[in-house]
Amino acid sequence: MKRVFAEWQNRVRAEYRSAAITAGVLHRSIAVGIPRELLDKGQRIVADELDHAELSHACLVALGGPDEPPMLDVAQLQPSTDEDGVLAGLVDAIVQSFCLGETFAVPLFAAMREGCSHPAVEPMITRVLRDETVHRQFGWDMLDVLLAIDEHGVRDRAAARLPRFIQGYRRAYGEPPAAPEVTATERSMGLIPAAVYKDVFHDTLESTITPWFARRGIVWEAL
Ligand SMILES: [Fe+2]
Ligand SMILES: [Fe+2]
Repeated sequence: MKRVFAEWQNRVRAEYRSAAITAGVLHRSIAVGIPRELLDKGQRIVADELDHAELSHACLVALGGPDEPPMLDVAQLQPSTDEDGVLAGLVDAIVQSFCLGETFAVPLFAAMREGCSHPAVEPMITRVLRDETVHRQFGWDMLDVLLAIDEHGVRDRAAARLPRFIQGYRRAYGEPPAAPEVTATERSMGLIPAAVYKDVFHDTLESTITPWFARRGIVWEAL
């Protein structure tokens, strides 16, 4: 059960960090005058991510894990400094965390739900999967609004940053470290086998992420 507990503790941290990242996106969005409708969606997403963190913790406890909240790394929750200005910082956050992060999250949670049967875990994953579809859409809608503000600047910024951002997700999902196979019991509790992470990474990059950027004139050179 050690690996199941560690995984759910990591999920609590990741969801809480998503709330902080989205709050940063919201702050920058207010600063650059993003339309109200998207600001409202951003607020909803901050609330969703805080819910996801709580729900992940509830799963951890229901599975028999430790009751106390996992330790958080405050450095991971700091807002970035936006060295190239607030618009560039917003483009980076949208591209990295939404057009990539939330777009990978949708098929990952779908894969998680497919294998999961534990009564405490399944409803949580169903709720998260529903929310992640909204979060993914927010990211691509935001990118369109940003392109309308500064088409060439945003395109160039996204294309320049994408290789490094994609590399980060490749390390996390596409090239998982060698570890014992996920067992049927672990799978029923929401863990995903490494091969599934790998397939989702490559399929989503190829069939969703690359064409959705290309449609917006954003292409990049692979590292
Ligand atoms: Fe989430
Ligand atoms: Fe999300």
